[in-house]
Amino acid sequence: MSWCIQSQVSSDFVTTPDPRLALASPSMPTRRDILRTGLAGTTSLLFPWRTQPARALRPADLPPSPRVTPFLAPLPLPDDVRPVAPFQPSGVSLPPQAHNPPTYHELIAERRFVSLHPHLPPTAIWGYRDANTPRTVSALGPTIVCRANQPLIVRHRNALPADHVGFGVPNTTVHFHGGHVPAGSDGFPEDIADVRPVMHPGESRDYAYPMLDPGFSHGEPDATDRPATMWYHDHLLDYTAQNVYRGLIGLVRYHDELDTGDETTGLRLPSGAYDVPLVFMDRQLDALGQLAYNPLDHNGFLGDTWLVNGAIQPYLNVQARKYRLRLLNGCNARFLGMQIVRADGTVVPFDLIATEAGLMSSPLRNRTLSFLSPAQREDIILDFGQFPVGTVLYVENRIDQPDGRGPRGTYDRPGLLPSGPRFLKIIVGPRVADPSRSPDVLRPFQAIAAAEIASATRREFQFGRRNGAWMINGLAVDLDRPLATVRRNTPEVWVLRNNSGGWWHPIHIHLEFMHVLKRNGQTPPPTERDGQAKRDVITLGPNDEVEVFFKFRDYPGRWVFHCHTLEHEDAFMMACFDVV
Ligand code: C2O
Ligand code: CU
Ligand code: CU
Repeated sequence: MSWCIQSQVSSDFVTTPDPRLALASPSMPTRRDILRTGLAGTTSLLFPWRTQPARALRPADLPPSPRVTPFLAPLPLPDDVRPVAPFQPSGVSLPPQAHNPPTYHELIAERRFVSLHPHLPPTAIWGYRDANTPRTVSALGPTIVCRANQPLIVRHRNALPADHVGFGVPNTTVHFHGGHVPAGSDGFPEDIADVRPVMHPGESRDYAYPMLDPGFSHGEPDATDRPATMWYHDHLLDYTAQNVYRGLIGLVRYHDELDTGDETTGLRLPSGAYDVPLVFMDRQLDALGQLAYNPLDHNGFLGDTWLVNGAIQPYLNVQARKYRLRLLNGCNARFLGMQIVRADGTVVPFDLIATEAGLMSSPLRNRTLSFLSPAQREDIILDFGQFPVGTVLYVENRIDQPDGRGPRGTYDRPGLLPSGPRFLKIIVGPRVADPSRSPDVLRPFQAIAAAEIASATRREFQFGRRNGAWMINGLAVDLDRPLATVRRNTPEVWVLRNNSGGWWHPIHIHLEFMHVLKRNGQTPPPTERDGQAKRDVITLGPNDEVEVFFKFRDYPGRWVFHCHTLEHEDAFMMACFDVV
């Protein structure tokens, strides 16, 4: 059975279901059923491929993607969502603290054809569409734009094909990654007793996004906890990797009185046409330009083709002035070390202004590397006004990552290559007026005080491997059994420890941002140090141990945390906790 896998991967055109797709078949025991009856001895059923010689599938094991000429098409920019007429939400409501009237939106998850490259035939993807738009060729979903204290009600409709064959499962639950929203609207990975988020084809669910400052219920609003760049994506238990790989991704932008979206007000950050999202993805394509994937690769699937905002190696014309670039690693398993380089490879420095948790206390100037684990975001400001008209720059990934294990080197010293794939070409145009700024002070916040850290409940979570599957504290995912019950608004210190040898795990914890206290016993680097930055994905490199502080301030309910290498997440490296 070994390598005939190739006939399965480009499954949009597969007509005979492959028996290995049994994992997706409702007639088979689900992974959850098997877990319920005990894990022991069942790994060969869960992981039939484990009987093969243990060997990581690399992109080289699939036929290489068609080679195409880079930098032929412009960078696609997703539209912002537009409101729809108010409707009566079902199953969700806004907390009473949300007194501004909500705006209403409707998004549709559908199969559609998009052009990844001018020389390739259209590619079937799954994507989100604004219900106001009858048709779109955008690979990314529309960008949800939020404003502090301005609630949103989003109706998500599942119009994916019910008769879908191949990798991916057309059921979906939509996670608002980085959002601080009630449990019923977080996109829990499966239906549980009181939360039933999973939409089958033809169904819809409403999501309530209050966009209140955390802590509101205790009368201590905390404006320092406002994210800047977020995203939404499918979170279906066991199938997130496949469904996200098919394209169920969209961005979220969050504005407030500092980060206004208008460069003449607030911090005057570059805005509008000068605020550009860059969603990086790697994909593998078959000879017909269709998405290829290996659903049996639980090590972490890597593609050999580089996409930005859903286009293969596009170009971006910029004017000679400051831009804000919002970088998101949308890859399933690839870590990125992004550098901005001139044609000859010389590195161009930039200002780092935001991480997943929003604006940092102050910018980190003259950075030369944006290290992005899967799901991580960094916003940077780059002044193209320093370059003569016609200058050509590239956004290049210099991380050396041979397989799903992770980059060579360590988190502190990732192995950087002297050159790497160029995801995006940037061409500098004429100089224009630039009222924007890259200020010295962004959104200052205090590091957690020692006394509060000392009073915290300490918990330890180990991320490891057992019987070829990915485990947290030796346990496979079981969303009926929380690994922790935490009290609302009470200090918690979680020690996240990687004991899986050379494997890397980007750990994402829902609901609150992490104040990073220590990395391997030391003060963390400024990109994640408490008082300077907060994160919602923390990278565990080989044998790393990271200590993070939380207060789960308001919303009660059940939440997940997991590795955001999506193949690890789906192969059990997820757990849940209750906030009471
Ligand atoms: Cu972006 Cu729980 O995921
Ligand atoms: Cu999340
Ligand atoms: Cu992992």
